[in-house]
Amino acid sequence: MQVYLNGRLIPEEQAVVSIDDRGFLFGDGVYEVVHVYGRSLFEWDLHMARLQRSLAAIKLPTADQDELLRVARLLIDDLASPDGEASLYLEITRGAHPRAHGFPPPGTTSPTILMWVRPVAPIAQETVQQGVPMITVADDRWAKVWIKTVGLLPNVLAKEKAHAAGAFDAVFVRDGVVTEATSANVFIVQNRVLRTAPSSNYILSGITRQVVLELAEARKLAVDLTPFSVEEMVAADEVFLTGTLTEVLPIRSIDGHQVKEPSGPVARQLLNDLHDRASWGKH
Ligand SMILES: Cc1ncc(COP(=O)(O)O)c(C=O)c1O
Repeated sequence: MQVYLNGRLIPEEQAVVSIDDRGFLFGDGVYEVVHVYGRSLFEWDLHMARLQRSLAAIKLPTADQDELLRVARLLIDDLASPDGEASLYLEITRGAHPRAHGFPPPGTTSPTILMWVRPVAPIAQETVQQGVPMITVADDRWAKVWIKTVGLLPNVLAKEKAHAAGAFDAVFVRDGVVTEATSANVFIVQNRVLRTAPSSNYILSGITRQVVLELAEARKLAVDLTPFSVEEMVAADEVFLTGTLTEVLPIRSIDGHQVKEPSGPVARQLLNDLHDRASWGKH
């Protein structure tokens, strides 16, 4: 498989990053994941806009979007089955420089840019129908989780805790309210009103979250962007996750409490709508 690293398409085995890379040493980099449905990049423009916001937030130069799109298409064409589903991963770090916390002096390094596209299996119908079990964990992440940084250790630890408890994932809870999951946003449905945490520095504003809010509006479902508690989540009619690869995934239980509608009818309707939208793909 070919990957893109610093201006070159090379076999995956030859793609190596310096031991001085600041992404490796400090988590000093940002990333994006884009869902590819049959050669089409789902919401590419929204992902690029968020990438530019993340880059600006950590004071890295703007990325060349045309070049990234050109490379993305080459990588998709290189897939053994380009008409299936795939995941595009893009990471940009501050580059390699002998270890020191401060930024490298101007002109001494350039960003490391990595992109790959790998096939992904569609989420099993059964999983969607049954919903997934979740646990709650304290959201002890930093106060800038809106930046899509590769520094994901708290998310990794929370996911591991969920797996150890036999759950699919963890829901973060900060100051008594639900923020998001380790790699997805969280929605509840109560009397056909959709509720999700408002955009703030305490959530990563998901592209799928935004798309689902638009799809809900198109279906004339009311939306409420006020924070909700664990108790409200557990008492809701439906609870579901949204994310690039997670798509729209019903939650069946939280800390062992069963959700009323584990295979969320509203969630599954929105998932169908999302799939319809994916087939309109422009890029
Ligand atoms: C912490 C977190 N929240 C939410 C999301 C969902 O964002 P998106 O829908 O853009 O994939 C992600 C995606 O990786 C994430 O890591």
